[in-house]
Amino acid sequence: MYKILTICNLVFLLCIYLADLSLLLASPAIEVAHWWTSKGEAKAAKFLQNALKKRGYKWKDFIITGGGGGDHTSVLQARVSLGTPPSAVITFMGPNVWDLGSKLKLANLDKVAFRNNWKKKLHPLVNRMVQYKGHYVAVPVNAHRTNWMWINKKVFQKAKAKIPRTWNEFFQVADKIKKAGFIPLAHGGEPWQDATLFESVLLGIGGASFHKKTLVDMNEKYINSPTMVKVFQTMRRLKNYMDKDSPGRSWDNTTNMLINGKAAMQIMGDWVKGEFLLQNKKPGKDFLCRPAPGNQGIFVIDVDAFVMFKVKKKGLQKGQIALAQTLMEPSVQKRFNLIKGSIPSHLGVSSKGFDSCGRQSMRSLRKDKVVPAFAFVQANTPTSHKAMVHLITSFFNSDMPTKDAAKNLALMARISK
Ligand code: GAL
Repeated sequence: MYKILTICNLVFLLCIYLADLSLLLASPAIEVAHWWTSKGEAKAAKFLQNALKKRGYKWKDFIITGGGGGDHTSVLQARVSLGTPPSAVITFMGPNVWDLGSKLKLANLDKVAFRNNWKKKLHPLVNRMVQYKGHYVAVPVNAHRTNWMWINKKVFQKAKAKIPRTWNEFFQVADKIKKAGFIPLAHGGEPWQDATLFESVLLGIGGASFHKKTLVDMNEKYINSPTMVKVFQTMRRLKNYMDKDSPGRSWDNTTNMLINGKAAMQIMGDWVKGEFLLQNKKPGKDFLCRPAPGNQGIFVIDVDAFVMFKVKKKGLQKGQIALAQTLMEPSVQKRFNLIKGSIPSHLGVSSKGFDSCGRQSMRSLRKDKVVPAFAFVQANTPTSHKAMVHLITSFFNSDMPTKDAAKNLALMARISK
């Protein structure tokens, strides 16, 4: 009797497997363009692929190389002009989505958004930034906080250093760490990483309202100001605390310097946590997360949003809806963000299971000042962003006087408006 039952169970499982397989074979593959190639990012992407598979759709990768997003809009435009747009692209919410909307035909996701009441489930800023001309066109899958300072706990203990809360304190601490034989600040010298650091320095010196006036409103009077000169002076000073191999290094190789105990701090978004966790490092024990100096009470938000392109095939259209539903599923957002290092953009997901960094982020998103990330094209247009980041990087890699840098940044803002 027992044997017969076991055989029946096996046959039943086989039938389910075959049904799943036939559904998968019958459905077209959903091609998703993205740049998630670090170990942690790839694991998170794999999780989404499996979640979509459960709804009967295969996810096909279209990798656009370049951490931080690189220049993915131009690659996409090329694909569209060839008449073969991917089904979806992972981009940043807001200006990039609007830019894609103005150049390419996007799928309308209103039905799935209204049916599932996205408006109530998202932070008002996110809800606005996933719409184009009043229609939902993008699905937010996370909320990354970019103004974090990551800390190797042991290095701090060995150097007998205290965690800095302001940029002034940072330099005292960094001197101590340098004397103890460690690299105080691990930094990858790529333009987008320079911009991430710049944004945290700017917020730590000028605060959230200065951020709005300069990087969102691009008010020239505030850009070309003594406060901005101080921001550039601080950036220049930071160079003394980086290693000589910094230029061009990827963010994940930079994080490895903390993981291997060579460096003490990195100012970077919480995708960094994905790398720590993959190497079995524990928050609180091996590494710590704190707001970047002077950034207490400010959440710089970077949301990865899936934009769907208008496709002709009915099967693909259904697949896009299935992808949108998968991505906004609370259990998917929870497990995905536990891997990626970020927190869910779906506000209904409980903080249970998240570590201290995740819970800190969740609290901050609800009660702090939420500021759109300039370094991730969420504060101003892609054109202005490009021009301003170019100037910041040029300054950082030359001996441009700080007063000229502030003046030139204002000029960049004017000509790119
Ligand atoms: C950001 C993106 C994150 C993370 C990071 C590093 O642009 O929003 O999801 O992947 O780049 O590649």
